[in-house]
Amino acid sequence: MRQKLVAGNWKMNGSRASIKALLDGLKQGIAAVESAEVAVCAPYVYLGDVEQQLQGTPIVWGAQNLSTEASGAFTGEIAASMLQEFGCKYVIVGHSERRALYGEDDALVAKKYAVARAAGLKPILCVGEMLEDREAGTTEAVVARQLDALIDAEGVAALADGVIAYEPVWAIGTGKTASPEQAQEVHQFIRQRIAERDASVAEKVQILYGGSMNAGNAAELLAQSDIDGGLIGGASLKPDDFLTICRAAG
Ligand code: PGA
Repeated sequence: MRQKLVAGNWKMNGSRASIKALLDGLKQGIAAVESAEVAVCAPYVYLGDVEQQLQGTPIVWGAQNLSTEASGAFTGEIAASMLQEFGCKYVIVGHSERRALYGEDDALVAKKYAVARAAGLKPILCVGEMLEDREAGTTEAVVARQLDALIDAEGVAALADGVIAYEPVWAIGTGKTASPEQAQEVHQFIRQRIAERDASVAEKVQILYGGSMNAGNAAELLAQSDIDGGLIGGASLKPDDFLTICRAAG
């Protein structure tokens, strides 16, 4: 049985005050979440506050990006060791917004995954097709390319130390969710593709769904056999909605 994971991706939202209120709400409600792991991925500058507020609670935290470099003259970048120093468990890599807006390609994403893993962080590798891919019937080809780039560079065993998030780009922040059947189909495809390389890794790896998952649709998505949790954007900024999703995960 794979444990479910619900991870909030706050993106570039919040303030010290709003994050304190959000975390107070999560801390109050977390006892009602029975078995799922709950994580929040915060903007870098708030990681110290998040660490302070979540230490000693069952809620874990992470970042939304990291540098491929260990240290040095890389103005504006943040190293894996820094995230580790602030108690991060997770770091998102290859989110579609970073791929689309900051030109991150499959090779760079694979490198970020490897650097995170080497530092003892759990990377959450995001994959997913754009609307035109889905309409052209190339969803599986796109997701396979994104996945294979990591497996070819780092070996399939690398996936055992991380998490995959399937996020159809057309569903992110749009209110349009993939149907449970559409999501399950791609999740199953991802697991099968990994199984072709290593069945035990495929069995163990958590595959999260992301893209307008909310308090109303989480239960039916999470009931699918290959959906092991969610990566939640908008709804993760509202404690009641986020906790409803976490409880739906078990
Ligand atoms: P959304 O974002 O839940 O707001 O669609 C998900 C994500 O981008 O990870």
